[in-house]
Amino acid sequence: MTVQDKDNASESIDFDVIKNLTITEAKAVDQLIIKELSSDVLLINQIGHYIIGNGGKRLRPMLLLLVAKALGKATDNHLILAAVIEFIHTATLLHDDVVDESDLRRGQESANAVWGNAASVLVGDYLYSSAFEMMVRTDNMRVMEILSKTTTAIAEGEVLQLLNCNNPDTTEEKYLEVIARKTAILFSAATRLGAVLADADKTTEEALAEYGQQLGIAFQLIDDALDYKSTAEDLGKNLGDDLAEGKPTLPLIYAIAHASESDANIIIEAIKQGSRDAFSEVYEIVLSTKAIEYTEKCADEAAEKAIAALDCLDESEYKNALVTLAKFSVQRDY
Ligand code: IPE
Ligand code: IPE
Ligand code: MG
Ligand code: MG
Repeated sequence: MTVQDKDNASESIDFDVIKNLTITEAKAVDQLIIKELSSDVLLINQIGHYIIGNGGKRLRPMLLLLVAKALGKATDNHLILAAVIEFIHTATLLHDDVVDESDLRRGQESANAVWGNAASVLVGDYLYSSAFEMMVRTDNMRVMEILSKTTTAIAEGEVLQLLNCNNPDTTEEKYLEVIARKTAILFSAATRLGAVLADADKTTEEALAEYGQQLGIAFQLIDDALDYKSTAEDLGKNLGDDLAEGKPTLPLIYAIAHASESDANIIIEAIKQGSRDAFSEVYEIVLSTKAIEYTEKCADEAAEKAIAALDCLDESEYKNALVTLAKFSVQRDY
């Protein structure tokens, strides 16, 4: 698939059709999630249900379950780990919205906007801890090794990103290192765990981990493009949050390198200041340098690598769904 193909209406992807392939398992995962959210501490219940109960694409658990089914073996432990991955994801979102000062998430006020930063951080911690408690139930040392390494890498990615904030000299390479850790590693853990629990051989496990990693890179590249080009309504998040934080994401890195000196300086100043004020001006420069197209091209390339890694699987509707989800990660507008 190329960027041009995206203009081709016949390529449009029906996410719900894919969702239906794991609908039974996904319902069981949701039940597990609801059960695990219950605590006698009222605020944990409230915030937990608020953020998890009200949306989210559930893409990571879906990937884990599709891998399991593509390998012909979906077990109870797959269900537990799908819930674990969604808990970890949600914990990172609670923390991320505090760090990014974002006040819209999943189409509603973010938890930090409603309950404040302290509550969001602490309930994020609760979700992390709860995820580890669930993970232990699988009684599988390899699973624990994968997940603990994953959460460490995510934290490293977020801290690395913090160091890059307000720094307009951030390179494409440094940016890619951040997104590999903060986002792609969790996708990779999801697909790797799907394989490990299905007793896949080492080569297949590595290929499926690579699929998740590349899909995750594509996914974050597009997330960073959408922060400039989408609408809050489609995205369920406010546009311009990255600029407001002075985040040098790929659209800006590319635009600085390809704009006139005066235009580049507008972006450089906006990154240094970390303010939404120059959003429309910056947006125009991003558009005129074709920085969104470049970001989408990079996402396309990552998605192609993800799809190539699926050669390890026999043909099935689940494998086809995994191919389609790699494409969805690039074509999505939410
Ligand atoms: C948002 O992830 C965080 C990123 C890694 C960009 P999703 O877009 O998967 O968030 P939900 O779960 O659907 O809300
Ligand atoms: C992804 O980065 C966040 C995590 C991996 C936790 P963003 O900051 O771009 O995610 P959104 O846009 O807030 O969902
Ligand atoms: Mg954010
Ligand atoms: Mg974002």
